[in-house]
Amino acid sequence: MGKKKTILDLAEMKAKGKKAAWITAYDFPMASFAEQAELDMILVGDSLGMVVLGYQGTVPVTMEDCISHCKAVRRGAPNTFVIGDMPFGSYQISDEDAVSNACRFLKEADMDAIKLEGGRRVLSKIKAISDAGIVVFGHIGLTPQSSGQQGGFKAQGRDVKSARELIADAIQIQEAGARALLLEAVPPELTEFISKKLSIPVYSIGAGLPCDGQLIICGDMLGMFQAFTPKFVKKYANVAEVITNAFKEYVDDVKNDKFPEDKHVYHVKDSIEDFEKMFKEFE
Ligand code: KIV
Repeated sequence: MGKKKTILDLAEMKAKGKKAAWITAYDFPMASFAEQAELDMILVGDSLGMVVLGYQGTVPVTMEDCISHCKAVRRGAPNTFVIGDMPFGSYQISDEDAVSNACRFLKEADMDAIKLEGGRRVLSKIKAISDAGIVVFGHIGLTPQSSGQQGGFKAQGRDVKSARELIADAIQIQEAGARALLLEAVPPELTEFISKKLSIPVYSIGAGLPCDGQLIICGDMLGMFQAFTPKFVKKYANVAEVITNAFKEYVDDVKNDKFPEDKHVYHVKDSIEDFEKMFKEFE
């Protein structure tokens, strides 16, 4: 198993042109698989609201949900760089509130960094959390927590005017102290420009190849999340089908007395005759 990466290793990977691969995970088993597969990072995304908790969006996710899932992921991946995602409402209210909630990710769940969504309007929060000594990942482009303002889960930065806004956001996020930036659902031309312009690593989810690495949501890439599949997802497995078929086979086995088999039961230690005698005492 490789040594746990630090933010300096991630910066060095950018400098050397080595790509980082990260996924989201929300629980112990998925985190253990990610660590065994030597992912560079794991994001405990607030996408857990949709992928795991069954909400329609990420807005209902609470700090308690995030902390609990971050703890499970840390137990499953003790040697992986893990980022806790700040949920809606945990950093918008004030700089003090943002710092206090960010600290919880480190103190209670042993996260290596936090991520928060937004550009210039959250700069004071990025600066305050960074000044508290916490590694901050910015996140711009499609920002699911404010998808209401964006008119839904829509690609961003496709026209010059909005691309210019995103470039200004990216530059100021770096100046505010963020140590990495995630671009979601923007054109690769813009991704390439921003990742060359910034000295911090720039990562993509649905933002194309030309940057410092890729993030994908585990539920999407494994074929577990069935509500919808964004254009930018590559499905590496169809786990929903595997699980549903296993459940169907189990139902069939139970209803037809094919499970459990003899090898699945605990056999008596005394003789059957002794058992039968004992049963009679109760008749
Ligand atoms: O919550 C999450 O998984 C995210 C990704 C969509 C980037 O923030």
